[in-house]
Amino acid sequence: MSVNFKDHIRVIEDWPQPGIRFKDITTLLGDGNVYREAIDQIRQLVKDKQIDVICGPEARGFVVGAPLAYALGVGFVPIRKSGKLPYETIEASYDLEYGKDSLAVHKDAIRPGQKVLIADDLLATGGTIATCIDLVKKLGGDVVGAAFLIELSYLTGRQKMNGIDVVSLITY
Ligand code: PRP
Repeated sequence: MSVNFKDHIRVIEDWPQPGIRFKDITTLLGDGNVYREAIDQIRQLVKDKQIDVICGPEARGFVVGAPLAYALGVGFVPIRKSGKLPYETIEASYDLEYGKDSLAVHKDAIRPGQKVLIADDLLATGGTIATCIDLVKKLGGDVVGAAFLIELSYLTGRQKMNGIDVVSLITY
């Protein structure tokens, strides 16, 4: 299936703030064939990495990370906003493209030495993923890559990845 994924992403001008051109992926997710094709193509890009587990940050990281984990037959670890996880966690705070937030992961979610792929819908400034990488490393995980549906290359988030292999399906 040949898809121009950009045709399925709705760009919203000046949301949530003036000057931001928000990439709305709900239109892509709402089309079953396109959503499946996007996950399949990401799977092709990462399938040789011998991944043990996929981590994805709340909320939109779940809609990429969880189906990707299912397709690869590996586990999925949710990285959640603070206060949402019921068991003991480790936490880290970070800056967003427009705001600040804090992420948490269960302290036993990753075993030392496990190979971890981090997945999210969007690489913008890279703050979210850099925080996910820190959390995974603190638990002793080996981050083997990061995979995104969309990369906003003009925000240079890739430079925050410290040599970790980054793959993205759609680049603006
Ligand atoms: C968005 C997006 C990424 C992150 C990218 O999530 O889903 O996780 O921002 O930005 P960055 O590269 O500049 O960190 P958001 O924090 O808005 O949360 P949501 O998925 O719950 O909407």
